[in-house]
Amino acid sequence: MRNILVTNALPYANGPIHMGHLLGYIQADIWVRAMRAMGHNVTYVCADDAHGTAIMLRAEANGITPEAQIANVQKEHIRDFDGFGVHFDHYDSTNSDENRARSEEIYIKNREAGNIAVRPVTQLFDSEKGMFLSDRFIKGTCPKCKAEDQYGDACEVCGTTYNATELLNPRSTLSGATPVEKSSDHYFFKLPNFAEYLQKWTRDEGRLPVSIANKLDEWFENGLNDWDISRDAPYFGFEIPDAPNKYFYVWVDAPIGYMSSFENYIKNKRPDLDFNDYWKKDSQNEVYHFIGKDIVYFHALFWPAMLEGANYRTPSGLFVNGFLTVNGQKMSKSRGTFIKAETYLEHLNPEYLRYYFASKLSDKVEDSDLNLDDFVQKVNSDLVGKVVNIASRCAKFINTSFDNKLSATCAEPELVQSFVDAGDSIAQAYEAREFSAAIREIMALADKANQYIDEKKPWALAKQEGQEQQVHDVCSVGINLFRQLAVYLSPVLPTLATQVQDFLKLENFDFASGKTVLVNHEIAQFQALMQRVDPKAVAAMVDASKDSLAAAAEPVKVEKKKEKKAAPAKVEPKVGEAEIIGIEDFMKVDLRVAEVLDAAHVEGSDKLLQLTLNVGEAEPRNVFSGIREFYAPEDLKGKLVVMVANLAPRKMRFGISNGMVLAAGNGEGVWVISPESGAKAGDKVS
Ligand code: MSP
Ligand code: ZN
Repeated sequence: MRNILVTNALPYANGPIHMGHLLGYIQADIWVRAMRAMGHNVTYVCADDAHGTAIMLRAEANGITPEAQIANVQKEHIRDFDGFGVHFDHYDSTNSDENRARSEEIYIKNREAGNIAVRPVTQLFDSEKGMFLSDRFIKGTCPKCKAEDQYGDACEVCGTTYNATELLNPRSTLSGATPVEKSSDHYFFKLPNFAEYLQKWTRDEGRLPVSIANKLDEWFENGLNDWDISRDAPYFGFEIPDAPNKYFYVWVDAPIGYMSSFENYIKNKRPDLDFNDYWKKDSQNEVYHFIGKDIVYFHALFWPAMLEGANYRTPSGLFVNGFLTVNGQKMSKSRGTFIKAETYLEHLNPEYLRYYFASKLSDKVEDSDLNLDDFVQKVNSDLVGKVVNIASRCAKFINTSFDNKLSATCAEPELVQSFVDAGDSIAQAYEAREFSAAIREIMALADKANQYIDEKKPWALAKQEGQEQQVHDVCSVGINLFRQLAVYLSPVLPTLATQVQDFLKLENFDFASGKTVLVNHEIAQFQALMQRVDPKAVAAMVDASKDSLAAAAEPVKVEKKKEKKAAPAKVEPKVGEAEIIGIEDFMKVDLRVAEVLDAAHVEGSDKLLQLTLNVGEAEPRNVFSGIREFYAPEDLKGKLVVMVANLAPRKMRFGISNGMVLAAGNGEGVWVISPESGAKAGDKVS
């Protein structure tokens, strides 16, 4: 038996849980349940990530204290996780006394070890609000292409990245004031002290998905930088010891929340567990963090370095999930695919989603798509059509004709044994987080069980004289096969599993319990187990998600402002204001049809996609395009687009961009321009 501590990324306490979040939480919950079903001792904790500027401002906009804000959201988060069967042993908040104490301790240990530096930093300051502004809260005109209304880190129109201080006509999105440059002391964590340690750590067996370790090598090659861990007041967080008015940046105390949530679990509910057994340096117990791919950097570099610097153990492994798209695209409020957990639960059974996610998930860091048509089809055909159907076809005979008792002997020992034997490889697949493989194996068994019943036709036998024993035997075998399937699916479908356990009157439902065949065993009255997904309910959920758009945008000041101006994602000069140009100017632009050979997310940018384009030249072109929010890479692959082929190459943080792809845009979205079919890569556009 292994002792394992499992955590999920701590959701921010400023917004609701949505389908994208749930991918990682359901993944972890399934793993925890599967490991327990295999007999391991697993503790599963989480917490709300309660600190930071965004939460402080949201509370202010709501006219409540940050403490009240985070308490409200925490209740909603707990309700939503509970609704989806994501069952934490303990759910805490990073704004706890224990987390404060642990954060201070880890900081001080690192300071004593020489891992902290202090130096002044000049930043933009909003004198009206009395606070420093992060890039997100500054807008202005792009210094390069002069597009208006661009954020402080990068231009969404031309893709250039810059420092906020380079923006023309900068203004604070909080007060509208013109920010001024101001210097103040910042505290830094000296990450380069751990360069060698981390380089080895990230390559340790099982620590990280290999694809992620490879990515991190690029960061190591570029050299690690000191990490700014302080924020000036006003900030909702923990004050740094011996540094009045300086607060820990939220990403310092957030992962420490994993430890303090576990500590509080022990304090409140499990005095038999020992914190140090799990967190002391040489602990043999295992610690795993389930996280999304966007927060790898924090978990694979800063977090192990902070722990190592404070002489704690580091996580045994990081399990990283890709991102969720809905119907092939980024979740969108206007399309009704930004589906909140709460909205889903108003319309659909949570186990449908758990099953659908399980059927898609593997140990790879790949994005998953929730295709709503496929969702309906898969749940109906697999769960209702195959699995539940076995029980409903067999149970009624046992209930009505055989006094609720299964046969005294198993009529098909080999068939049943083959289901029992499959348990080992299914368990292995779960353990390796190859859930889609586990589901495939289970569904192959379900096919086999249905085939058996189809061949034997108990409903036909029941009509014939003197076939009672046959009917009894066949249905008893059917129930045994169904029981195996329900046991194997129990990590994914805990509610169904409990219903089946009650129906079969079984004390135990773990994986080992399935090894004994049920003979001469009494069962309960069969109750309908799972309804088909009604596509109308799915449509209603999408509709309700559209409705919630306006409500969800309220009542935060920042967002209100956005709404009033209806600030579009891309700003085109208004037609009436554009400069008149002659045909000779237009002819200077080399517009060409290009084929998208490849499209990929750019690590570290939430705006850019990296496109590899065939423009009919010997070598494909590399272009960075600010359309990540609007397109999933797969949807662009193979597409013909129109590009400006003679734009001067632009050096960006991520590489050199050789051209620009044309797209239409308004406040609602961005649409890449494609030629009608017939055009070929390299064709001139005029
Ligand atoms: N508060 C941080 C995590 C701190 S952990 C010490 C955070 N919070 S979050 O609310 O933005 O995200 C919570 C988890 O959900 C993260 O693992 C994140 O990667 C994941 N996801 C958020 N949106 C997602 C999708 N659309 N798809 C898949 N996972 C997504 O990050
Ligand atoms: Zn620009």
